[in-house]
Amino acid sequence: MDHGKRLYTSYFNPFLIKPSRALPSEMAVIGAGTIGPDIAYYLKSGLPQTKLYLVDIADEPLKNAEKRFKEYTQKSIARKKMKEEQAKALLDHIIYTTDYQAIKNCDLVIEAATENLPLKEKIFEKLESIVSADAILTSNTSSIPADRILSKMKKPQRSTVTHFFAPAWRSLAVEVVNWKGASRETIDFLFWFFATTGKAPVVTDNVICFMFNRIFENWVNEAAHLLDQATAAQIDAVAGEFVSGGPFFVVNMGNGNPILYETNTRKMEEGAHYRPANIFLSVERWAVPRPGTKTQVPEDVRKKVRDRLLGILFSQCFDISDRGIGTKEDLNFGCQVGLGFGKGPFDIMRDLGEGEVKRIVDNYAKERPGFPQPKKPLPSYQDFKRYLLVDDVDGVKIITIRRPEAMNALNENIMKEILAVLKENADKPEVKGFVITGYGNRAFSAGADIGQFPSTLGNREAAAKLARENSKLLVYMDQMAKPVVAAINGMALGGGLELAIRCHGMVALKQASFQFPEITLGISPGIGGCVVPYRRWPKAAPLFHEMICFARRISAKEAAEIGMVSTVAENYWDMIHSALEEVKKIGGKIPKIPEGKISIPDIQLPDHPVAGKLALSKEALSVLVKIIKDAAAAKTLTEALEIGYMGSGDIACTEAAREGITAFLEKREAKFTK
Ligand code: COA
Repeated sequence: MDHGKRLYTSYFNPFLIKPSRALPSEMAVIGAGTIGPDIAYYLKSGLPQTKLYLVDIADEPLKNAEKRFKEYTQKSIARKKMKEEQAKALLDHIIYTTDYQAIKNCDLVIEAATENLPLKEKIFEKLESIVSADAILTSNTSSIPADRILSKMKKPQRSTVTHFFAPAWRSLAVEVVNWKGASRETIDFLFWFFATTGKAPVVTDNVICFMFNRIFENWVNEAAHLLDQATAAQIDAVAGEFVSGGPFFVVNMGNGNPILYETNTRKMEEGAHYRPANIFLSVERWAVPRPGTKTQVPEDVRKKVRDRLLGILFSQCFDISDRGIGTKEDLNFGCQVGLGFGKGPFDIMRDLGEGEVKRIVDNYAKERPGFPQPKKPLPSYQDFKRYLLVDDVDGVKIITIRRPEAMNALNENIMKEILAVLKENADKPEVKGFVITGYGNRAFSAGADIGQFPSTLGNREAAAKLARENSKLLVYMDQMAKPVVAAINGMALGGGLELAIRCHGMVALKQASFQFPEITLGISPGIGGCVVPYRRWPKAAPLFHEMICFARRISAKEAAEIGMVSTVAENYWDMIHSALEEVKKIGGKIPKIPEGKISIPDIQLPDHPVAGKLALSKEALSVLVKIIKDAAAAKTLTEALEIGYMGSGDIACTEAAREGITAFLEKREAKFTK
């Protein structure tokens, strides 16, 4: 990872940090304008029982914020994402105030006032005179480097910039700026705190606009400079190939024209080429339709706009990577979860191919001289793991699956990346073993990415091939000489559980759960789920029947009772440390999955099989039962696994699979007819 260790002095996975202080007992947000209330709402969602102060100099914005919070909770209740009592807890203990003195007991304060340096300096001076000497104080500036705001503080080491993204109550992204005045404890604590309360924070260097705003503001500025070539609506339509909302639509949402002018002016400290478009000074709102609206764009215009937008995007990505402003992993990830890009910018480059990227970069250099160019050969920018964070603790590689936006669901690339890490380290004597865990405190992994299944429906060979491909990692693990331990930090579902049970040991957080929900989608666990559990923990066969055929979920405690999990931990840190112990304990004695025919109890199917309230498909169940029985009767493990792959091919051809997968993707309950 380029420059990664300079930014991340402790760990890439924030959950590996042992926090040096407790969660805040009271917290405050200063500024009830556009983003302040959204930050406050996020804080209160993450810590509903904690008192929160929202401070402003005027009553009106505070009243509006209160109204906004009620609307957010009502929407969440309507979408069944929140219960009434959760909404009540969230809205309780929020103090809307114009009195700064009220926040004197807060140990975390986030400033989200107007983007104005003297004002921010004044606020920090005031805050320091009110709160205790060790309260953490941060600024949500989107562009002003931390030292300019915070150096005059009496105790700057407890302060930094923490930059949120709209909508801040929901967007996973937040940048924690690692500047030289902050203590390592402060950076580590904030990095850990945001992750623990539901965000996916990244650490960046202390430069103008940090990491993601260098992408966003230059992208929008380029769009404005293109207005002599195309209309705002046309530019938004072209950008729609890459982002959920075009640049002008997004700026309208935040009334961002004046601030764009200001921050792009600030960037001119790095060169005149960053000059903002003057039009930001005269336009209040852009005449653009909602994203997805059909807009006619002549082909030559489309090509021109597309090249220029990609030109600035790539230029900024090379610069961020070359200067070590952030890691490529974070940049690629954050553009997706924070800026609404469908694919990360490095993935866009990969898919375009080296020749096309070079053409775009060269053209851009001619049209917009001065902007940063790549300092290294283009292929070297592709050399990183898209979905994994890899840390080293005492000679053990901790592999964290980071895809929180999809509950760490496993796609083909994740499986390949994990396999690559295992292979890269297989022969290194200093690496003792591996721990695989999931990012966040909700899911180890919500299973195979359901989005990959529609293309295999009705195609036996394609479905079996997909299962076989996704199994390569697991088959490799079966013959490894170094131990791999799964640390189950939340839900381990479907393919996530299949990955976990192929690890050589398993530890879990106490709230972790284990489930094979495949039958509720009309499909089968295809990569060993119908095979391996019976062979590794034969006494629990009746329980596995229930888990596989009726999607019964078990707790960490139950998983420990059947011997699947060796330690149930109270918190993430303890879980990781138990996993490290387990790696040591297993050492070179990797348990082998038994070969040969095994005997399993009969599977009894009721007349009306159900999983919870969902009536299951009898057709799919009969395929499933056959897979389990045939695999148990197989002479070798390889043969049994192959029965599982082919079985997932058979089940993909049922009506149940089509209905189950379609229903999930359409966000409705499945209705199985036979
Ligand atoms: N594949 C692809 N995306 C998945 C996924 C999976 N296996 N599991 C979750 N996601 C995505 C959701 O589609 C959603 O994306 P969106 O925000 O773009 O809509 C996001 O992760 C969050 O999930 P959501 O369902 O909104 O969260 P929840 O808390 O209401 O429910 C689960 C969480 C895990 C119970 C639910 O997502 C689920 O049932 N997932 C499928 C599990 C499964 O059947 N796995 C086996 C696959 S073979």
